[in-house]
Amino acid sequence: MNIIVSGGNGQIGSELKAMAPFAQAKVIVLDRDALDITKSKNLRAVFKKFKPSFFINAAAYTKVDLAEDEIQSAYDVNANALIAISDVCNLYDCCLLHYSTDYVYNLNTKQALKETHKTSPKGVYAESKRLGEKNIQALCNKYIILRTSWVYSKYGKNFVDTMLRLSKTHDSLNVVSDQIGSPTHARDIASASIRIIEQLVAKESFSIQEVYNYSNAGKTNWADFARKIFKLAGISCKIHNISTHSYNAKAHRPLWSLLSSAKIRAAYKLDIPLWEDSLNDYLSSTGNIDAQ
Ligand SMILES: NC(=O)c1ccc[n+]([C@@H]2O[C@H](COP(=O)([O-])OP(=O)(O)OC[C@H]3O[C@@H](n4cnc5c(N)ncnc54)[C@H](OP(=O)(O)O)[C@@H]3O)[C@@H](O)[C@H]2O)c1
Repeated sequence: MNIIVSGGNGQIGSELKAMAPFAQAKVIVLDRDALDITKSKNLRAVFKKFKPSFFINAAAYTKVDLAEDEIQSAYDVNANALIAISDVCNLYDCCLLHYSTDYVYNLNTKQALKETHKTSPKGVYAESKRLGEKNIQALCNKYIILRTSWVYSKYGKNFVDTMLRLSKTHDSLNVVSDQIGSPTHARDIASASIRIIEQLVAKESFSIQEVYNYSNAGKTNWADFARKIFKLAGISCKIHNISTHSYNAKAHRPLWSLLSSAKIRAAYKLDIPLWEDSLNDYLSSTGNIDAQ
């Protein structure tokens, strides 16, 4: 059995690459040079060559603010590509595992967001990601959409590394405190993805069309997340709370991003780590605190 991973140089793609092989399959991890998901010819050639049983789409346009200017690129990668991907998956009876984002909700429910909550995306990135989901839901025979939040990994640029870097040149930092959510280690998303595939493969046959939320357990805001990073890493940089409004980013940010992972936890019997524990692992594995 073959499994293809696209976006192999991204945070989640790289974590999957580091865990390969898995599910007793040959895992082919392709970066953008090897597979540009916006090129349907490229997609068809790769599917023809490997005839995958699973296609994990870890490729995405993720520059949230730049997307407001690069509208076409964001839509091509996050939305339009999912039409060709769905078609080619159907042709090879391949199951698509696709990642999406808490940004599709954009609701101030003050309750953990469930997959049954309505979506109300705002901004090019969020809207393009939701359209990608809709394309899959309309066209793909077998799919899993995993919506996740606040992703970090040692393989990419992320909030944790930015805080660590800035702390070297600043005694204090202003960080947004009115966005609520849960940071998620890409390693945990990759593990959960593998666990799901392994359980599907173990069945004689399966059909699936599901949306799941997946984020690390617990709840915080960006300012407290930064405080925890510094506390664990023994850094004395001070954090000042600021509002999303005063940060003045180009793209809209949801204030409430807390995902309920209850559905995926129950369906696949997943142990979902607390965000603080995964952060501790991350900082240990990257040499920012002594491994315990
Ligand atoms: N990061 C977050 O905080 C976050 C939060 C919620 C959900 N998500 C979702 O999680 C998924 C993975 O995110 P991530 O953080 O791993 O993203 P990432 O680190 O930005 O990786 C995305 C990868 O996709 C590649 N890519 C871009 N356009 C492509 C194309 N046309 N063909 C093939 N590859 C292409 C990029 O290649 P280059 O390296 O060449 O640019 C990059 O390696 C995405 O669906 C994202 O929307 C992320």
